[in-house]
Amino acid sequence: MTRRRESTAADIAAPQATALTAAALRERIAGRLLAARERTCLLTGCVDDADLVRQHSPLMSPLVWDLAHIANQEELWLLRTVGGREPMHPEIDPLYDAFEHPRAVRPSLPLLPPAEARRYAGEVRGRVLDLLEAATFSGAPLVTGGFAFGMIAQHEQQHDETMLITHQLRQGAPALSAPEPPPLPPDALALPAEVLVQGGPFTMGTSSEAWALDNERPAHTVHVPSFYLDTTPVSNAAYQQFIADGGYGNPRWWSPEGWDHRQRAGLTAPLYWRREGSGWVRVRFGVTEPVPPAEPVMHVCWYEAQAYAAWAGRRLPTEAEWEKAARYDPATGRSRRYPWGDSDPAPEVANLGQHHLRPAPAGSYPSGAAPSGARQLIGDVWEWTASDFLPYPGFVAWPYREYSEVFFGDEYRVLRGGSFAVDPVACRGTFRNWDYPIRRQIFAGFRTARDATPTAG
Ligand code: AVJ
Ligand code: FE
Repeated sequence: MTRRRESTAADIAAPQATALTAAALRERIAGRLLAARERTCLLTGCVDDADLVRQHSPLMSPLVWDLAHIANQEELWLLRTVGGREPMHPEIDPLYDAFEHPRAVRPSLPLLPPAEARRYAGEVRGRVLDLLEAATFSGAPLVTGGFAFGMIAQHEQQHDETMLITHQLRQGAPALSAPEPPPLPPDALALPAEVLVQGGPFTMGTSSEAWALDNERPAHTVHVPSFYLDTTPVSNAAYQQFIADGGYGNPRWWSPEGWDHRQRAGLTAPLYWRREGSGWVRVRFGVTEPVPPAEPVMHVCWYEAQAYAAWAGRRLPTEAEWEKAARYDPATGRSRRYPWGDSDPAPEVANLGQHHLRPAPAGSYPSGAAPSGARQLIGDVWEWTASDFLPYPGFVAWPYREYSEVFFGDEYRVLRGGSFAVDPVACRGTFRNWDYPIRRQIFAGFRTARDATPTAG
């Protein structure tokens, strides 16, 4: 018997996530786990063992740590917690607990060597697929809707993005290839610079998206006054004007902490950029190339994004503004899963999944536009927002405090939308990422906003 869900204007449910049979859900889970593992193998198979165990930056773990940590989390949550199995190698648990050892000291730990890490990951996965055969997706909250499996697929994909960041920091070309992103669509040059998002309440966050993580929950109403948002992320060409105008030398545009950091860190341009003649070049996965003017700017920290916005006479959008622009449909009053609607991301609507090894030009993906007309809210570059990483009203840590709760506070800023390196399984209109405002190695850019002055009448 099939059941139809009642649908109302305020309905924020995810039809795709709730309508699956157990067999279809099992197949979806297997597909997402396989896709994650294929990417992990690509990212750990494109360099030799010496490069797997080396630390390429104090900001990052050796790649071989990510590999075994992925397996250890999968064993912990799926085999032990869901499946009730005994630990396979309890003595290695502390090595792969991200809270026991900061990234900088991980190379000095007695980590599993590459061949053993691969074997461990393969053994865990084999047992997980056996477990999945017999799994049911109701009863225990951890398995409802396949949550624990979805969480683990997202976790592996998040570490895959982390490993791609490590490859970029490494600055030796890994054997990774990818087609170029689509060229700029013909209408991009005629796009308005900004779009208006009308003031009023909207539903932020979700209570119904089966694989949403704890920090995205629960759904709640937020009143957002009218504002204007850039139609696209800020481009390299626009950012170069800020540099050319002396933006890095003028404290007027920077917050006091930002100016302090700019001086101490000696920031003069985005990470990986270098002047050559009268222009700029950058290093991307080991290859030096001219900075492409139309591409969204990337590898800027929150302080640089904030300074650029002030220079442009604007500001960064708040997290609520970003989500309203990305999800709110004024025609129905409902918040969508994605800017384009409720359907899962497809290659035609967003640049995700490391399918291209770079962002697409600003103005791309017209079919992925939000009702407001804003483009590329999902994919291409993570977007810094003005907001601190805080819990939503009614937040409950789930299934562990260390996923989100221990990071809440004013130390971290929220990033939204995902980059070209984010897999669709770990990306949606409600997804929240966070990092320190000084971080630049992440695939992050930004767009700017301004208040809309209410007109009379
Ligand atoms: C959400 C990207 C900040 O990598 O630190 C990975 C994701 N959590 N393993 C991170 C995560 C646990 C997290 N970020
Ligand atoms: Fe992790």
